[in-house]
Parts: sequence; C-alpha cells; structure tokens
Amino acid sequence: MAEEKQYPNYSPGLEGVVAGVSKIARVDPEKQVLVYRGYDATELARKASFEEVAHLLVVGHLPSQAEYRTFTSKLRECAALPKEVVTILRTLPKKTHPMDALRTAISCLSGSDPDLDDLSHDANLRKAMRLMGVVPSVVAASWRILQGQEPIPADPKLSLAANFLFMLQGKAPDALTERVFNASLILYAEHGFNASTFACRVTASTLADIYCSVVAGIGTLKGSLHGGANEAAMETMLSIGNPAKAEKYVLDAIARKDKLMGFGHRVYKKGDSRVPTLKTLGKEYAQAKGDLSWYEMADTMERVMVREKNIYPNVDLPSAWIYYQMGIPIPLYTPIFAVARMSGWTAHVIEQLDHNRLIRPSSIYEGPALQPYVPLAERS
Ligand code: COA
Repeated sequence: MAEEKQYPNYSPGLEGVVAGVSKIARVDPEKQVLVYRGYDATELARKASFEEVAHLLVVGHLPSQAEYRTFTSKLRECAALPKEVVTILRTLPKKTHPMDALRTAISCLSGSDPDLDDLSHDANLRKAMRLMGVVPSVVAASWRILQGQEPIPADPKLSLAANFLFMLQGKAPDALTERVFNASLILYAEHGFNASTFACRVTASTLADIYCSVVAGIGTLKGSLHGGANEAAMETMLSIGNPAKAEKYVLDAIARKDKLMGFGHRVYKKGDSRVPTLKTLGKEYAQAKGDLSWYEMADTMERVMVREKNIYPNVDLPSAWIYYQMGIPIPLYTPIFAVARMSGWTAHVIEQLDHNRLIRPSSIYEGPALQPYVPLAERS
C-alpha cells in the first residue's frame, strides 16, 4: 500500500482532534478513569441501577428518590411496543441481524412521536425517555420474532436490566445475573466522542430529529471496530474452544498480523477503564455458575496480548463471555450495547441541540486537476 501523504492540520480518523465541548463524560486514558458527569463510572457500575445512571446522563444529575420514581415509571410506560413496530418486525426476513431490526424499529417509532419536530430541550428529553424505555423491548421482541416466537411484554415490577432478560428469556433473572448485567449496561452507557455518539451529534447538528440521530448511532455501532467487536470476540473465543489453546491461538494470530476483536482502543493505550470492574464481576458470576473456563480463556488471551503486543482488552471482551454465560444469543451483544448507549446518545443529542453549530469539517482534495468537460458524443 502506498504511504499516506502527511498534511498539516489533518489527523487520519480524527485521532487526537477535539471536536466539541461536553459536560457528559470525561475519559482519562492515562489514569484509566471514566467519569459520568463527575461520578466514576466503575463506582456507579458497582453501586447504582442503570436507571439512575440514565437519569444522570440525560437529565444531568443523579435523581432524588421522587425523581427516580417518576423517571422509572415513565421508562416503564414507554416499554410497551406499538402494534406497528411488532408488525414491521414480523415482516423482516428471518436472517435479519437484530441491529438492523433495531434500526428499522426506531425509524418506525418516529412517526408516532408527538414531539418529533420539536427540538426544544424539554421535548428532546421526553423523546429520550421514550427511546430509552422502548429500546429493551424492541431488542428482546425482535429476537423472539426472528426466532419464530411471540414477544413477551415487560413486567412493570422489574428493573430495566432484569426486564430485558425477562422479555428475552421468559423468566426473571436471579439477583446476581441482574446485578452483573446491570453493571455491564452502566459501563456501556457512555464514552464521550466515540464513533457512534459522534455520528449522533453530526446528525443532530443538521437539525434532523433525535430518531434520525440514534439511527445513525445504531448503524455506526454495528461495525466490528466499534460495538460489533463484542460479537466478534465471542466468535473468536468459541473457535479457541478451550483455555489451554488460548496462548497458541493468540500467538498464531499475532504472527499472521490478524486483529483480535475485543482488544485495543483508540483512546486507551494502557488499558480500558471499564475492564477491571467488569472482569471482576464476571469472575464472581462465573464462580457462582461453576464454570471459570471463559474467564480463564479471556485472562490468558489478555496476558499474551499484553506481553507480546502491549495491547489491552477493551470492554467488549469481558462483556462477550459474560453474556455468553448468561445464555444470551451472540447476535444480541451489540444490540445490548445499543440499549445501554441509548442513554449516552440521547444525552449527547440534547447537549448538541442546546448549543448547536452544524458539524461540517473539511477535507483535502487529491483528485485530478481542473480539466475541460468533453461531451459524451466526443468520448470514445
Ligand atoms: N489486535 C491486534 N493488533 C491490534 C489490535 C488488535 N485488536 N488493535 C490494534 N492493533 C495494532 C494494529 O495492528 C496496529 O499495529 P501496527 O502499528 O503494527 O500496524 C497498532 O496496534 C495500532 O492500531 P490501530 O488500529 O491503528 O489503532 P486505532 O487507534 O486506530 O485502533 C481500534 C483502535 C479499536 C480500531 C483497534 O484497536 C481495533 O481494531 N481493535 C479491534 C476491534 C475492537 O475490539 N473494537 C472495540 C473497541 S472498544
């Protein structure tokens, strides 16, 4: 491949470019810290409910008890799936990936939102609540419908984390499963100007509605360099098959210069702030389930990648094997990331529209010099 030309003021992949000002999240790659509006995300993951964190991100502060009750009941009200969405999900080809089903369902939902074209702060907040409330139902129902099963309505007594698993699996999770799944949602909720969030902000900056923004986010998240990595990481672990084979597999992959999904990060070069917490919770979960093999495999992969390449796992590695042990089908791992990230995306759309300026960068032209047009009839 020809070497790329260097240009002043150009950073491929926008690496290191500051593209906005935000009060939502701070990532400190040196200290491996992720902060949501002043709170350590890993502390929130261990102690808070996903709903509290969603309120923190979207509304701007941790809820009081009264605010929490109102917020959670609003999310529960929004969990019911409109008939049109169920009908559309039933018409999708059975091979549709659940991320594509999610993208389609969100587009369908926009038509019935009474606030669609109202871009005021309050209307955006109402739309964010509707989206956060409905997205777990969409993901669970789409999977069941694609498998030829009937959707299961939400249980208003359950938390958002437990409800998702209930709507998917038909039974409420035990307390440990709920706690670990809740923590994974919190750690997936927000991460600054990552690719999908940036896509949401770019779309919002044109004054398109919030549904257009989050559809852009869903499409961007699907790629394997971003959210799709958790599904790809689990496929890799399944092809390794056994912790004893992990070291050789990784060494061979390095020799072939293959990328290992679930490793590396654009921002963190010394380790992903979210991994130690999720790994510890995952180990606790694996011990309780009596099967440490996936934990051990991931741990060996990590040891070899750090030793040989100084490349650390990202959050998609522990989430992949934890979800697998929870019996969650692999094609749902990226949609689950979207369920969580809906809070971050909508928080960013609201912030973008509160201080909007069209996002429109420039590019360097490397095409042909100016030349005269030759009419078609004169071209051979
Ligand atoms: N496996 C093997 N090598 C990797 C790697 C991985 N997962 N991630 C990065 N590297 C290597 C690259 O091959 C490159 O090596 P080189 O300099 O010898 O060519 C070097 O590390 C820098 O990688 P690069 O892809 O340029 O860094 P980036 O900042 O653009 O990449 C990612 C960030 C996330 C795109 C990259 O780490 C990746 O593709 N990871 C796998 C996908 C993934 O897990 N995504 C989820 C991110 S949360």
